[in-house]
Amino acid sequence: MESKKKSLLLELQGFLLLNVLMLCMARKHITTVDWVVKEASYTRLCSTKKILTVNGLFPGPAIYMRRGDRLKVNVRNAGEYNVTIHWHGVKQPRNPWSDGPNYVTQCPIKPGANFTYEIVLSNEEGTLWWHAHSDWSRATVHGPLIVLPKLGKGFPFAKPHKAVPIVLGRCENGGEPNKSDAFTINGQPGDLYNCSKEGTFKMVVDYGKTYLLRIINSIMNEEMFFMVANHNLTVVGTDGAYIKPITTSYIMITPGQTMDVLITANQSPSHYYMASRASAELVYDNTTTTAILQYSGNYTAPSTPSFPNLPNFTDTDSVTNFTRRLKALATKDYPVDVPQSVDTRLYITISVNTLPCANNSCDGPNGTRLSASLNNISFVEPSIDVLQAYYRSIQHVYESDFPNEPPYYFNFTGDNLANTLLTPEQGTKVKVLDYNSTVEIVFQGTNVLNGAENHPMHLHGHSFYLVGYGFGNFNNETDPKSYNLVDPPEVNTIGVPTKGWAAIRFRADNPGVWFMHCHLERHASWGMDTVLIVKNGRTLSTSMRRPPRQLNPC
Ligand code: C2O
Ligand code: CU
Repeated sequence: MESKKKSLLLELQGFLLLNVLMLCMARKHITTVDWVVKEASYTRLCSTKKILTVNGLFPGPAIYMRRGDRLKVNVRNAGEYNVTIHWHGVKQPRNPWSDGPNYVTQCPIKPGANFTYEIVLSNEEGTLWWHAHSDWSRATVHGPLIVLPKLGKGFPFAKPHKAVPIVLGRCENGGEPNKSDAFTINGQPGDLYNCSKEGTFKMVVDYGKTYLLRIINSIMNEEMFFMVANHNLTVVGTDGAYIKPITTSYIMITPGQTMDVLITANQSPSHYYMASRASAELVYDNTTTTAILQYSGNYTAPSTPSFPNLPNFTDTDSVTNFTRRLKALATKDYPVDVPQSVDTRLYITISVNTLPCANNSCDGPNGTRLSASLNNISFVEPSIDVLQAYYRSIQHVYESDFPNEPPYYFNFTGDNLANTLLTPEQGTKVKVLDYNSTVEIVFQGTNVLNGAENHPMHLHGHSFYLVGYGFGNFNNETDPKSYNLVDPPEVNTIGVPTKGWAAIRFRADNPGVWFMHCHLERHASWGMDTVLIVKNGRTLSTSMRRPPRQLNPC
């Protein structure tokens, strides 16, 4: 007992943000915490500006829970904009009411209003996170959601000395959008940006000890490489599930992904840079955010700490080589339950598109407006949430005819594709799945608009197994032969490779309304989204819960 307490304490001490919450609770009594969404002043990059926060914190407060726990979070909106909160990677069994995406499972919490979410954990364990899910407010409204093992249980690896969340985020100084952007580590841009050196995040380590980095990519639009100079990283978990440990010099982490990474302080005591920068075909921000791994003890600190040799922005091989290594832990305690047969198959193309614009007056190519689609449908946000429309059988909010395959076949990953492929159809189209059916989705990246890039596709309400991954057009005869149906990683977000495809499988065992979208915010807001509705099973315990008493009006 004592040592359990101690390990939890260490975990807490390791957390360097302010607001820490620990939960010890019985099933019946569910603790409620109160959050206030409000503006706060932050000084970064030589200027002070107001940003939207939870409780005035950036990054926001960390939630600590244990596997299987529940927690209520009452969110009061004291800001000026509508807001909702999503618990990214939490499956919320039978409880889409608390999932959060704006106009998908709820109407927004308006200024002055509040909403009580209930976070329902099941088999998640490790690092997850939470973020706003309305417009672009998640840029600053996000934080860690850490799921510790059940009381009395340990990690499936040697106990680290301490755990330290590493939240990759971004900030801006309010000037021109591109150049003024900065990436951040735990809210700090680091030494390479103006006026930032003082605040650079420092992680102090004792020689010989092992630390658990809980890495979260909460960045809006960039996949990131992350490295620590001279130190290997051992990835032991992703997206709240354990994997077979991978020892590597770098990681690639997409927006929406989380990783549990061990690092041992086994180099000569000194200061070392941790650094992170984009991994992308189209580099919008080529800056590098840094933090410092600083050994404790007496030594002469170097005037410049050694710097890691990060992969190039466009180094697709480094992305693939890393992703290919992810394998589920697959032990008796952490089993794999990947469907061996499939009831419903979806083949979904992912494209960046354009929409015509009056007098060609928009900022996209040739005066068009940029758009994005899945199977050529660009998702349109409805005026009341899909969940309510589904639950109360309200007509004309959405249509249930999201296509099972692309409307036309062409060389999806070819260059200079026909202009006729540019314009998507617009609509609020959902895919309805039977309860407990097994589902395979093959995401196919396209090069429409010569806009091929890696898309971090994310599904709410479920985790899924990444069973296959490749380049070019998916071949439904040969490619399935290479599937990993033994120990595929269980994740909630997967980077569909640039000019390639990714195949996932899962069981639709969570009745409700679940958003599925690209986690690059610009793509999601252009319509690279859809909704999966999982029907109720035959019993009460396989059906959606009733709505909470208080719902937010639209
Ligand atoms: Cu972090 Cu809808 O996602
Ligand atoms: Cu995308």
